[in-house]
Amino acid sequence: MKLTLQIWRQSDSAADGHYEIYTVDDATPEMSLLELLDRLNDRLVTEGLDPVAFDSDCREGVCGSCGITVDGRPHGPLSNTPSCRQHVRSFAEGAHIRLEPFRSAAYPVVRDLVVDRSALDRMITVGGHIAVDAGTAADADAEPLPHDDAEYALDFAACIGCGACVAACPNGAAHLFAGAKLLHLGTVTRGKLERGRRAQSLVGQMEQEFGPCSSYGECSQACPESIPLTAVAAVNREVVRARVRRPKN
Ligand code: FES
Repeated sequence: MKLTLQIWRQSDSAADGHYEIYTVDDATPEMSLLELLDRLNDRLVTEGLDPVAFDSDCREGVCGSCGITVDGRPHGPLSNTPSCRQHVRSFAEGAHIRLEPFRSAAYPVVRDLVVDRSALDRMITVGGHIAVDAGTAADADAEPLPHDDAEYALDFAACIGCGACVAACPNGAAHLFAGAKLLHLGTVTRGKLERGRRAQSLVGQMEQEFGPCSSYGECSQACPESIPLTAVAAVNREVVRARVRRPKN
């Protein structure tokens, strides 16, 4: 397949970016989008040119490292699919594909298609964890959790932290990410101990760096793990709950 790639090039966060056009003549339908960039980069390196920088790690939809905006859509044309699992077969022979970094005020461009998503890490630092001294790992049946609760927590623990939800939101809101963490950790037995403190600190941090929720709903469509919009609804609910209950909860 022959494809034309219009790719955002930016040497560092302080530089002005611009698009450059590349042609790949030997793409195959089964290639992933990242393999397509690998193919292009092999050629650029051979020609003594700078390869296109992009993030990836597992390339299996597990780690959340990848993230490219493809023709204006975070991750690519298939909904609920990370960039590493988007394939060339989604595009027609001769297609012109625009690749740019995730676009959001909270994600400064580091280089080419790589953005700094550490604003999400700062939310995890203040509240996206269980901070009680849990000692050594308990036996699996020491603190039984009803099966339905465990399944519910796992549904939200599936968030891989790619940040596509923020890039998909016109306001750059991180409510889907925040809600997934609050519902995951607030449901498991030990996580319940800090549910209120966690909600207030995590949401407080979120409000410093991300925009307000627009109720647009595109975040859930872009999410590789299909985190539902009930996570967004949980953000305000958890904060209100924290304010009306005793401080320790
Ligand atoms: S590279 Fe790990 S989720 Fe895409």
